[in-house]
Amino acid sequence: GDIATRTIAIIDQLKHLEGPLLPILHEIQDEFGYVPQEALPVIASELNLSRAEVHGVVSFYHDYRDHPAGRHVLKLCRAEACQSMGGDGLAERVKVLLGVDWHGTTPDGAITLEPVFCLGLCSCSPSAMMDGEVHGRVDAADLEALISEARR
Ligand code: FES
Repeated sequence: GDIATRTIAIIDQLKHLEGPLLPILHEIQDEFGYVPQEALPVIASELNLSRAEVHGVVSFYHDYRDHPAGRHVLKLCRAEACQSMGGDGLAERVKVLLGVDWHGTTPDGAITLEPVFCLGLCSCSPSAMMDGEVHGRVDAADLEALISEARR
């Protein structure tokens, strides 16, 4: 179908690269907003890989989604500096607030929660990213404000 056709077009553009799998997955996620299950066998056959290999790579990297994200994506940093500044507790509060776990999307389709491993803002930890915009030294109230703003 459509997904297969668009997937093949992306593969054709990128398969000349050395180690084309990651750039192809990246481009597919850009195109569709996630990596559709239907794309995996297409990638496997075009790159002469087994489906298990492609699956393995997709699930190894936290960046790839297997279903469409919500309208907004909130990423919370899970790496060391942020952990040491209370990142864990903050993440728990956000999960309760949204009623979702990592990679989950709120039932209203507004927000997807993702973990991220360092946003390069370690000196301003704990940090978060809403729709690609980074925020440092966030506390629960900041995150609540970002979330309600996004929901408006
Ligand atoms: Fe969180 Fe670097 S550890 S921004």
